[in-house]
Amino acid sequence: MAKTSQRKKQPRGLDEMSPREIVAELDRYVVGQQAAKKAVAIALRNRVRRRQLDEEMAEEIAPKNIIMMGPTGVGKTEIARRLARMANSPFLKIEATKFTEIGYVGRDVESMVRDLVEIAVDMVREEKLLEVEEKAELNMEERILDLLLAALPHIPGEGAATDGGKDLARVEALREKLRKQLRDGKLDKRIVELDVHEHPASPVSMQFFEGASIEELQYSMRDFFAGMMEGKAKKRRMAVEDAADYIMQEEEQKLVDMEQVTRIAMDRVEESGIIFLDEIDKIAGREAGHGPDVSREGVQRDILPIVEGTTVGTRYGMVRTDHILFIAAGAFHIAKPTDLIPELQGRFPIRVEMTDLGENDFVRILKEPKNALIKQYVALLGTEGLKLKFDDDAVREIARLACRVNESGENIGARRLHTIFEALLDDVSFEGRQRKPKTVRITADYVRKKLEGVAQSKDLSRFIL
Ligand SMILES: Nc1ncnc2c1ncn2[C@@H]1O[C@H](COP(=O)(O)OP(=O)(O)OP(=O)(O)O)[C@@H](O)[C@H]1O
Ligand SMILES: [Mg+2]
Repeated sequence: MAKTSQRKKQPRGLDEMSPREIVAELDRYVVGQQAAKKAVAIALRNRVRRRQLDEEMAEEIAPKNIIMMGPTGVGKTEIARRLARMANSPFLKIEATKFTEIGYVGRDVESMVRDLVEIAVDMVREEKLLEVEEKAELNMEERILDLLLAALPHIPGEGAATDGGKDLARVEALREKLRKQLRDGKLDKRIVELDVHEHPASPVSMQFFEGASIEELQYSMRDFFAGMMEGKAKKRRMAVEDAADYIMQEEEQKLVDMEQVTRIAMDRVEESGIIFLDEIDKIAGREAGHGPDVSREGVQRDILPIVEGTTVGTRYGMVRTDHILFIAAGAFHIAKPTDLIPELQGRFPIRVEMTDLGENDFVRILKEPKNALIKQYVALLGTEGLKLKFDDDAVREIARLACRVNESGENIGARRLHTIFEALLDDVSFEGRQRKPKTVRITADYVRKKLEGVAQSKDLSRFIL
């Protein structure tokens, strides 16, 4: 049986990182946009600083909420996404438009805080699971060995009447032999029988109660409550590898203290929660919305108390939102931040503008980020034995074309690169493993030939998302 340590190690928490380190981490994924990265890094660090002050002072210091403004496809959401991955701060990304859409009419904005709490609970639970994992694994192994020994046809019974000591030694030796085989994965398919608890006991078992005699009733009551307490146990036969998964979960649940988890989670939401409000420009403006839309001003008024600091009820208890950090983002090409109601504007003291991306940025975006498009396609096609190679001037040519299409059509920023790449590599992607030779070199010529038609044609519709 393979070791189950597949859970990823938690990355270093945002709170331990200096602003410079946060920016450096963002640099690995987002090209340019230094002003935005810096603002985010400072806001995060200030929170850590605040927490070191005495309570009275700390209470007074409001988070420095941020608005990121900039055209579409320049990395606003990408920065948020990367922060979320780095953070051991609970992080929620939500579109402000969620609260205006049909079907969400009046959708209560407090739900974002509740969602954040759920995220925090999951996060802390994962951390605790990681802490107990080793212990759980040891317990699990012992339990599997018990089951394996029990399943053997002719084992000398433990504590058998005659010659008990010797038998015990033999059982021990056998156990160790099995342990070795188990660790080598040789017993994965062996069938064992174990008690499986159905969690949680469903209220359906209430049916038992109808038309039963007193005795029966007492009996099924006992059953029912036993079932409630620990889930009804059933014997099941299954392969060792499946049993291991099941037992591992049971052991982990036993070892993790959920009350502690929720306490830490709530605390973390209040002290270091981050809510990323995307598409905030879409709720800017004061006029009433049309039809069943909630008016945009109405949404702003709903959001305001949460940003200002209020108490929200969740299923784990009340949460204060005073120190949750809000990062808002929007393209703001029609509405301006000044179209937001003044109270809300005042709660977002930091504004950063994201810059348009040019040819040089595109070259870097194609090559540098850890998840760069080129790396993605090389990896994808690599699964079918193709070796994809890009000449430097080919990359330059792609960037140049992307810029040109952005200028002559709609400017969709770096998203253009995605659409161009699909067109560029459609033949290669289509042929996949059938393609010969296996090495595919993308030259500037190839790029021009492949994309010439599209870049020049007036019909750019294929390239507009
Ligand atoms: N500065 C950048 N560095 C690296 N990749 C980027 C950058 N800007 C955009 N991208 C890429 O382009 C795609 C779109 O970017 P993103 O989602 O951040 O756009 P946005 O600024 O939020 O736009 P919108 O206003 O339309 O929501 C992302 O998948 C990302 O990979
Ligand atoms: Mg976005």
